[in-house]
Amino acid sequence: NGMKKLVFVCLGNICRSPMAEFVMKSMTNKYEIESRATSSWEHGNPIHKGTQGIFHEYQIPYDKHKTSLQMTREDFESFDYIIGMDASNVSDLRQMCPVDFQDKIYSFAPESVPDPWYTGDFEETYLRVQQGCQTWLNYLEKEEEHGKD
Ligand code: 4NP
Repeated sequence: NGMKKLVFVCLGNICRSPMAEFVMKSMTNKYEIESRATSSWEHGNPIHKGTQGIFHEYQIPYDKHKTSLQMTREDFESFDYIIGMDASNVSDLRQMCPVDFQDKIYSFAPESVPDPWYTGDFEETYLRVQQGCQTWLNYLEKEEEHGKD
């Protein structure tokens, strides 16, 4: 199908990018949305308890069986928007990404989303993720109005 494919990317794919994935999915069904890690550190591990706590608190549906996956070459090829949650995620993505697909890489927001793995503050992260997802949704819908693809 012709749905645009978005992937949110953070370091571990257990805190921020899965939060963005399921917050965005709760806002729209017009896009294919997934999340990935730049690193393999958390490969196969479930979504962090702190992020799952946010999903329960704000009644955001999510897949409790989702586990961390690292970006692959196929991912760089198949996703249309590859969205790094912080400045170092974007810089790592630029290093990993084949030249042909560099134009697909974006920053989630002008300011990096703080990593709750280090800050412990999942509420602050949720606030920033929610704001960023709303901004992305507005941007994508505006882009469609203007007839781009
Ligand atoms: P995330 O947080 O990138 O938002 O998923 C992290 C998760 C794990 C690690 C670092 C950040 N780690 O060092 O294992």
